[in-house]
Amino acid sequence: MAIHNKAGRLVGRRVVIAGGGSGIGLATAGLFASEGASLVILDRDAHAAQAAAASCGGKGLAVDITDEQAVADAFATAEDVLGGIDGLVNTAGVFDPATVADTDLALWARMMAVNLTGTYLLCRHALPALRRAGGATIVTLGSATGLLPTGPGSAAYAASKGGVIALSRSLAAEAAPGVRVNCVCPGMVDTPMTKTVLRDPSGKTKRAIIGNYALRRAADADEIAAAILFLTSSESSFITGTALAVDGGRTFH
Ligand SMILES: NC(=O)c1ccc[n+]([C@@H]2O[C@H](COP(=O)([O-])OP(=O)(O)OC[C@H]3O[C@@H](n4cnc5c(N)ncnc54)[C@H](O)[C@@H]3O)[C@@H](O)[C@H]2O)c1
Repeated sequence: MAIHNKAGRLVGRRVVIAGGGSGIGLATAGLFASEGASLVILDRDAHAAQAAAASCGGKGLAVDITDEQAVADAFATAEDVLGGIDGLVNTAGVFDPATVADTDLALWARMMAVNLTGTYLLCRHALPALRRAGGATIVTLGSATGLLPTGPGSAAYAASKGGVIALSRSLAAEAAPGVRVNCVCPGMVDTPMTKTVLRDPSGKTKRAIIGNYALRRAADADEIAAAILFLTSSESSFITGTALAVDGGRTFH
């Protein structure tokens, strides 16, 4: 379900996409490029960052978002390369399903470090450039599981994403009026992150999951990228501090 309108909604916008090497981030990079944005793509996976930059245009940088110095250096490079930064999108994240009983401290710490601390570090180090640009935006990635419990076995992930939603709302209050901050909360999306769940050959797990969705299917990454585009473009100019469920009806169903 490719959504490439080429309406020029991001012409002149200079955007850093973290986690742009795969899945939702890669789809966002492609859509943003088609809408006229200039991009710097960060990813822990150097090859993926370079490949995304080669296919979407822009510069790819190998950055682990849990490394504060690497994040600070990346924004200095991005501001230099792009001539300023008007937008940050963070799609970098990890998902290790486990019950609380099976979640050891290492798994818990990894989930918090990437999903929550990584989001905080990106926002903190992007803010000076975003404030200088004016009319800038941050879009973070929460999850439907951070809005409402969506089943057992993902407590650490849900806690990290609940934290991302709360962080985004707090930052929206601090960063206004110059910078708008919104959080996109997807339901199940077909990406490399969910391949073991969605592509289980028996199809049993997938059927059980999508049975809880009003729309009875998982999303394509392009459908999440479309929501990220809306919240980055001027079409959402009076929206800040929102946590937007893009979840096929999972959290109301
Ligand atoms: N796929 C889903 O069903 C789903 C649902 C809700 C929320 N989300 C969230 O959306 C975001 C994107 O997920 P996706 O499905 O595209 O996943 P993905 O695994 O396809 O892509 C995630 C990207 O983040 C990068 N990354 C991971 N750790 C990093 C780090 N420390 N530093 C830099 N880059 C790092 C990976 O290399 C990868 O390129 C994540 O935050 C995820 O939690 C996904």
